[in-house]
Amino acid sequence: MTGLSDSFQRPIDYLRISVTDRCNLRCIYCMPTDGIRLMPHADILSYEEIRSIAKAAAELGISKIRVTGGEPLVRSGLPGLIGMLAEINAIDDISLTTNGILLARYAAELKAAGLRRVNVSLDTLDAAKFKRICRNGRLQDVLEGIEAARTVGLNPVKINMVVLSGVNDDELRGFARRTVTDGWHVRFIEHMPFAKNGTGDSFLSVAEMRQRLAELGKLEPCSFKGNGPAKYFRLPRANGTIGFITPVSEHFCFHCNRLRLTADGKLRLCLLGEEEIDLRQSLRGGVSADELKKLIKIAVVSKPLRHQLANGRVPQDRPFSQVGG
Ligand code: 5AD
Ligand code: SF4
Repeated sequence: MTGLSDSFQRPIDYLRISVTDRCNLRCIYCMPTDGIRLMPHADILSYEEIRSIAKAAAELGISKIRVTGGEPLVRSGLPGLIGMLAEINAIDDISLTTNGILLARYAAELKAAGLRRVNVSLDTLDAAKFKRICRNGRLQDVLEGIEAARTVGLNPVKINMVVLSGVNDDELRGFARRTVTDGWHVRFIEHMPFAKNGTGDSFLSVAEMRQRLAELGKLEPCSFKGNGPAKYFRLPRANGTIGFITPVSEHFCFHCNRLRLTADGKLRLCLLGEEEIDLRQSLRGGVSADELKKLIKIAVVSKPLRHQLANGRVPQDRPFSQVGG
């Protein structure tokens, strides 16, 4: 295998696959206030089409896949897709990002199909606030999902919290304490502005988050790792870890290792950039596996060096829920 790298010599070995734009929640930082226009079903890739793309990507050097949404577990038969991806030889890590609502129901089946681990998005431990942030759903279901995932061994289960000033920043310490009391792996994520969501001025930087955590004790850097840009630390006596993700205050584009496939079959070159390459049209026009690989290579070499948030450029084309984080 040759391996893929882009025109800035960044190795690209990680593909994030969004399997649906649908979601059973409506988180304020993800969905626009006035709702979203859903993709027509006919535009959404079938599992077989996703497999063809994943296989071609794997033959080029992709070895890690994350399945995202919308909410991936609202698409029926998801464990079946996981099984199809797990059969691709060169793929050695399959993970899932979910809001956890349906996780207790599917955890065992996902594990059996070959899923390695999950990230669960959870922004509050307060049931009433959960309703305010997610506009739908029950906190208890997510907590049960997390426990089910841990029990069946989808480890490490990572908890992603998008920190919103004035909304849930008062819970930073509560989440951090869970790394000591429950061995949770918690990641605090800076809120990224997307044109199409309604959470304009709620940004809190990781530097500020760390100040708020100072009273809990010294954060020791640790080697806990994922496929992404989080930096990990441990509190004294914690089995779990605290990760910080700084897409805004300290971009990590120079280490970008990924491509994204949208549910409607576009390879998106950057989370925060609008450039995309359409694979669906080619697939449905009957491209050969070699031609598909050529398109993937074009996408890789076209990756931009970095996002342009600092210059005020935010994506206008899709809400976050269509890109899958
Ligand atoms: N900024 C930061 N993170 C976000 N997520 C969704 N929208 C945003 C945003 N605007 C997170 C979700 C999930 C992951 C896929 O991305 O909480 O954990
Ligand atoms: Fe759904 Fe996740 Fe978006 Fe919330 S952040 S609305 S759970 S896709």
